[in-house]
Amino acid sequence: MLTNKFTKVKLAHLPTPLERMPNMTKKFAGANLFIKRDDATGLAMGGNKARQLEYYVGHAMSLGCDTLLTTGAVQSNHVRQTIAAARKMGWHVEVQLEYRVEGKGKEYNESGNVYLDKLMGAKIHYYEVGEDEEGADKAMYDRAEELKKEGYKPYVIPLGAVNKTPWGSLGYVECVEEMILQSQTTDIKIDAIVLGTGSANTHAGILAGLIALNCDIPVYGFCVRRDEVSQRERVKAKTKKVLKMLNVDENKLKDEMVKCSDWVLAPGYGLLSDAVTEAIKIAAYEEAILLDPTYTGKAMAGLIRMLRKNEFKKGENVVFLHTGGTPSLFGYPELNE
Ligand SMILES: Cc1ncc(COP(=O)(O)O)c(C=O)c1O
Repeated sequence: MLTNKFTKVKLAHLPTPLERMPNMTKKFAGANLFIKRDDATGLAMGGNKARQLEYYVGHAMSLGCDTLLTTGAVQSNHVRQTIAAARKMGWHVEVQLEYRVEGKGKEYNESGNVYLDKLMGAKIHYYEVGEDEEGADKAMYDRAEELKKEGYKPYVIPLGAVNKTPWGSLGYVECVEEMILQSQTTDIKIDAIVLGTGSANTHAGILAGLIALNCDIPVYGFCVRRDEVSQRERVKAKTKKVLKMLNVDENKLKDEMVKCSDWVLAPGYGLLSDAVTEAIKIAAYEEAILLDPTYTGKAMAGLIRMLRKNEFKKGENVVFLHTGGTPSLFGYPELNE
């Protein structure tokens, strides 16, 4: 494995299935559609953060830490799975929920991921400013300093800072190896991968993994949080860091490999649009696949647009990476209205 030299802790149910989406393939009559089921990674209801946490917690363990701190939006899946990871380790955990999405009601603020965060008994802090990545991370580093004085050995998982080591991306380097093996054993050549891109840990891990394996499969990232120009820079910077961690020449990353589109981002982070609502409903109806409004619904809306514009050749095998997020559906009752 490309990531063998790094310490990891087993937290996720792996490998996740790589399945066909026959009904959606028929509906859009173009590419053959597949889905990589990272919504089935376990760790308190699945999602991409389970793979990432295996390496963050591994790194924390190698430093002798006993406490996890992290930050995210109110309906953050990353926060939920970080709490779950700490619970499995028997560690202390404190999280911070940022008010990033305006105008949301009781369900968004109390149901879904928040309900699970509370069920697992995490200490929750709140951060009033919606879009202040550095400030939000800093608040957690400040809290870590206080915890040190109380005798804890804290480990902060920052989400904003691109200048930090992206340990979590290693989980997606591993996912690439898993997918390539699955494609070889089933004799299905993968022609494209489609995913949602936020902190960019997932996107960077997938790109770096493909480069390390000398695979030229294109990766289409749909922006869930920021515009495509800034997201491209972020993915590029993180991918270079991951390549360095893997001892692969970072010049192998070419600009044209970093594909980000912000077509699905409007009206903003965590907010539904007609295209996203339609994508969530199509996936649920056709394949019983449950997507979320913030991440996977947006990525699927992007994929559907590409299919409608015939951006893939007929018969090409396209893999949609289902990165999870299902619990947050309960924060959006308007989807069923
Ligand atoms: C369900 C889901 N999908 C995708 C993403 C984006 O992944 P990344 O932050 O690694 O870019 C997240 C991030 O929180 C997520 O929760």
